[in-house]
Amino acid sequence: MTRNDTDDLVRTAQADFAAAATPAELENAKARYLGKAGRLTDLLKGLATLGADEKKTRGAQINAAKQAIEAALNERRQELADAELERQLKAQALDVTLPGRRRGSGGLHPVSRTMERIEAIFASMGFDVADGPEIETDWFNFTALNTPPDHPARSMHDTFYVEGGHLLRTHSSPMQVRYARAHARKYEGLAHMPEIRVIAPGRTYRVDSDATHSPMFHQCEGLWIGENVSFKDLKAVFTDFCRRFFESDALQLRFRPSFFPFTEPSAEIDVAFASGPLKGQWLEIAGSGQVHPNVVRNFGLDPERYIGFAFGMGPDRLTMLRYGVNDLRLFFDGDLRFLRQFQ
Ligand code: DAH
Repeated sequence: MTRNDTDDLVRTAQADFAAAATPAELENAKARYLGKAGRLTDLLKGLATLGADEKKTRGAQINAAKQAIEAALNERRQELADAELERQLKAQALDVTLPGRRRGSGGLHPVSRTMERIEAIFASMGFDVADGPEIETDWFNFTALNTPPDHPARSMHDTFYVEGGHLLRTHSSPMQVRYARAHARKYEGLAHMPEIRVIAPGRTYRVDSDATHSPMFHQCEGLWIGENVSFKDLKAVFTDFCRRFFESDALQLRFRPSFFPFTEPSAEIDVAFASGPLKGQWLEIAGSGQVHPNVVRNFGLDPERYIGFAFGMGPDRLTMLRYGVNDLRLFFDGDLRFLRQFQ
């Protein structure tokens, strides 16, 4: 091989390295020249057959070619590394002019807002706010409320039963009994017992599901018991509550005779708005009545001495009316596009 041949080899190597687009391609190209079976390695092996003088010049020639090839290799390696760095810098570029990412701010669920409103209004009228178990005993949910096991009213309250005589409470009314019993026990034996005035909001359950019923729904119970509490007090309290809740003094109430095992007499409470899309329509929002003597007895109180009223309303219904929502299920689907509108 002559000087021209080593010059050619250097040129092809340079072109080969330049054509390598990735570090892996470049390493493959390197092997073709400098590897064990590479072309330059072959030339070095060929030296063994030459005489001493020839070996000297030829060796120097091959060495010069080797250095040139290695220089070309290192240069291309650097080029590829620079290009890779450039690419990464571009990809990870930080645009300081972009607006920052904010942490989303949460808000209260519309039904929770209703609950807070109900609590605030009744608290201002001297009512305590109580909380109780959602998994109830049969006795508190039904029997104590004058609804014994064979009572037909039970059929409207189908629910989920769990072991040990427990069930998911079908209404908030068992809280009347729980609260009143604790109250009666607290003042037992004393000459005077303060009146019982309480509301109990919370979750309730029934086997029901359509646009206006969900298997889990909310109720808010109310109870006012004393020695001289009458139906007119119920009318006054509930009318005041509704007018404040819906922010309309022109709102009308109607007490429509009804039946509940735990009240006598019983009434369904309807409201009619003085304006808005539902103007003039009677809409049912609560059940109510004078607490039945049997229930007062189960409170641990003497029905000859203590009398009063109870009511049970649906905060979900109140929320629908207040915001003009016509499908109850929207509240419990968890769709933030819907819920955000109430923030
Ligand atoms: N608990 C009844 C229901 O879920 C509602 C109700 C009616 C509650 C009359 C009361 C009441 O306290 O007096 O259907």
